[in-house]
Amino acid sequence: MGRLKDKVAVITGAGRKRGLGEAIARRFAEEGATVVLTDIGKPSGEYLTADNIGTSAEMEEVAVAIRTVTGGRVIAMTCDVCAEADVARVVVDIVKTYGRLDIVVNNAGVGYIMKPLIEYAVEEWDLVMNVNLRGPFLFLKHAAPAMMAGIKAGTQPSGRFINIASQAAKSGAPALIAYSSSKHGMIGLTRTAALELAPHGITVNAVCPNHVTTGLGEKQNAYRGKVIGATTTAEILAFRKGRIPMGRVGQPSDTANACLFLASDESAYITGDSINVTGGEEMH
Ligand SMILES: NC(=O)c1ccc[n+]([C@@H]2O[C@H](COP(=O)([O-])OP(=O)(O)OC[C@H]3O[C@@H](n4cnc5c(N)ncnc54)[C@H](O)[C@@H]3O)[C@@H](O)[C@H]2O)c1
Repeated sequence: MGRLKDKVAVITGAGRKRGLGEAIARRFAEEGATVVLTDIGKPSGEYLTADNIGTSAEMEEVAVAIRTVTGGRVIAMTCDVCAEADVARVVVDIVKTYGRLDIVVNNAGVGYIMKPLIEYAVEEWDLVMNVNLRGPFLFLKHAAPAMMAGIKAGTQPSGRFINIASQAAKSGAPALIAYSSSKHGMIGLTRTAALELAPHGITVNAVCPNHVTTGLGEKQNAYRGKVIGATTTAEILAFRKGRIPMGRVGQPSDTANACLFLASDESAYITGDSINVTGGEEMH
């Protein structure tokens, strides 16, 4: 307990129940951080429908539930990670309200547009790239100066960026051309930002989970099930487990614990890295 005492963290795309963002937020709150949950809040277009996003109402429920369980300071703010003005506003609001911003978790992602690459529409490619890559870039661009200022002024000791990439950042993933490309790009983003920000006392790392049955994971299961001829979730998960040396699929808490380590003082000398959380399925 208390590994993130006094720290202020923002987590993007954290407004969905059972999502990785929710689990990371809960773990951080348990360890004493002030947590700002953000999500897009309002459905729009063909893909960002209410069943694919964290709506304002769901995000508020997530914040209340974590506050109730942990007794921590957890608040919700809407933020479209693709909109530079939104990202800049959230960073300014956090620093104005809490006096510092120690940790950014770039967790928002779109991973359910699955089809062969020859059928992929350019608008679909752009949506995935914008949420998964432009969003994390915008948070780096706007939060890094706030962290640098806090470190220089002595109001915070360090800064941490944690980018939720994927196993699909290390290996190709059929039917996920834009997703896998964006997540591979996130590794480049992580490494380059790590080099630039290390002299300022800020670390930048990525976490690469394999399948987790979140809302997004369920959509991927539905597609993969059709490909392998499985009809039930149990059959699909049995197929997945068969490829995982540790014999089980990942849980949101597995990713949350990796994020906690990267957010904590214990990871002070680790930067530019991309840690697999895959039960041994991915090893490079
Ligand atoms: N579930 C998995 O199997 C898995 C595996 C590896 C990596 N990931 C990654 O983990 C992250 C979280 O995914 P999840 O599985 O918890 O799914 P999720 O659907 O619960 O979370 C994704 C969140 O991103 C948000 N989002 C989408 N567009 C946004 C925008 N423009 N601005 C702000 N938020 C936006 C959604 O509203 C949603 O809350 C994603 O980056 C995903 O790629 C997931």
